[in-house]
Amino acid sequence: MFFLDSSNPAEIKELFSWGVLAGVTTNPLILARDAGCVDLERRIREVLAASAGPVSVELTSEDEAAMLDEARAYHAWAPERICVKVPFSDVGLKVTHALAKRGVRTNVTCVMSFNQAYLAALAGGAYVSIFSGRIRDMGYAATPVIERTRARLERERLGAEIIVGSIRHLMDVNEALDAGAHIVTVPPAILRKMLHNPKTEETIREFNAAWEKRAK
Ligand code: E4P
Repeated sequence: MFFLDSSNPAEIKELFSWGVLAGVTTNPLILARDAGCVDLERRIREVLAASAGPVSVELTSEDEAAMLDEARAYHAWAPERICVKVPFSDVGLKVTHALAKRGVRTNVTCVMSFNQAYLAALAGGAYVSIFSGRIRDMGYAATPVIERTRARLERERLGAEIIVGSIRHLMDVNEALDAGAHIVTVPPAILRKMLHNPKTEETIREFNAAWEKRAK
């Protein structure tokens, strides 16, 4: 399954019209770079209107009480669709656990190791976001982290689903899916790259040219 890693409503609307996307992820860096994001609530409401499925919005506070207040505010924007993205830490685990007890879905994010992923799932995260590109930046392979996490989730029947993010190349998508990601959250440019194959384009041109030139 694919989510879109973007906060641009026009792009989200266009790419959702392909019928291949099931949710949206945002993060503070994506939103900070989004020139159209002046007011967070307004932008997220635009994203909700342009998409379907869960929309992840990340907490930026660092102490537990402030994180819970922030989570309450985000959740109220669309209780059925907002997924509160909780940065991984001990406080993040407490917040994840508290929100799970209240029935608020969370996406535990910035996960770089199997141990972190397992803790996030045990704490009650609905999603665990493993960061493929950033793991590779450290010189490690992301695939074993995804494989071990998926195996552990299955073995203990934990409810969490793996989202693989921090996608830099098409091969990251394919490797994540093969390794057991439930979902890959793809940047718009990577999703568009999946369209292209010169042989497909050549074949379609050949077929249409033949049809045009047929004896009438
Ligand atoms: C998605 O949930 C993540 O926040 C995102 O994919 C991170 O991507 P980056 O590592 O390119 O910033």
